[in-house]
Amino acid sequence: MRRHKAFWCLFCQTHLVGIYRDQVLPRLVDRACSSASVGRWRKKAVTGLAGVVVEPGFGSGANLPYYPAEVTKVYAVDPAVLGQKLAVDRLTNSSIEVDFIGLDGQAIPLPDDSCDAGLLTFSLCTIPDAAMALSELRRVIKPGGFLHFAEHGLAEDPSTQRWQFRIDPVQKRLFDGCHVSRNHPELLRQAGFEMDWHESGYGKGPGPWSYIHVGRALNPGSTGSSLNDS
Ligand SMILES: C[S@@+](CC[C@H](N)C(=O)[O-])C[C@H]1O[C@@H](n2cnc3c(N)ncnc32)[C@H](O)[C@@H]1O
Repeated sequence: MRRHKAFWCLFCQTHLVGIYRDQVLPRLVDRACSSASVGRWRKKAVTGLAGVVVEPGFGSGANLPYYPAEVTKVYAVDPAVLGQKLAVDRLTNSSIEVDFIGLDGQAIPLPDDSCDAGLLTFSLCTIPDAAMALSELRRVIKPGGFLHFAEHGLAEDPSTQRWQFRIDPVQKRLFDGCHVSRNHPELLRQAGFEMDWHESGYGKGPGPWSYIHVGRALNPGSTGSSLNDS
């Protein structure tokens, strides 16, 4: 009897976690990330984008209204299927063609050198293996193309950093893997991107969550790896 009860408790918990992750969190993120103060960082991040762009962590399409007219197509990659539904108005109001091509930025289903550029906004913090996602971006972005980014991450001052490392374990559990202490510019460099420009500073909100890195980094060339090599 007790074992039966324990099974149902576990079942209910798993079910509730699933509802929170798949139904509640994408809506919360859509609201939180659609503010004008976040829009300021988006505007900076998308500046100069043109042609075919791959966007891992497309979410609810919050970048669509900011994309320059020179962008012709966006390849969207995101596991949150609800995001596509929440994006409907933005998709309808945009002249850009958006193709939903996959669910995982760690394995982008595109051939090598198939995109002119990439965009990451507030997503590299959440993708489980950031290095893998960046290696995939290096593979699909043409040599000489840029990865544009705006991410919240590791602050410069040690006291905020200490809080970020303390908060991270709880933050990851509450926000489906989102880290507050990732050093995005450093991760990009480690992946072989070359920083073209980068600025960082506090946005609106409590310090550990609001330190933003924005910029763009050059893909100097192919990594030599390919999903199609097998
Ligand atoms: C905080 S939201 C940001 C959404 C959007 N980029 C924005 O700026 O509003 C993080 C997004 O990363 C997505 N994500 C999580 N794991 C991912 C993965 N492995 N590949 C691609 N996207 C992922 C989530 O589903 C979510 O839509």
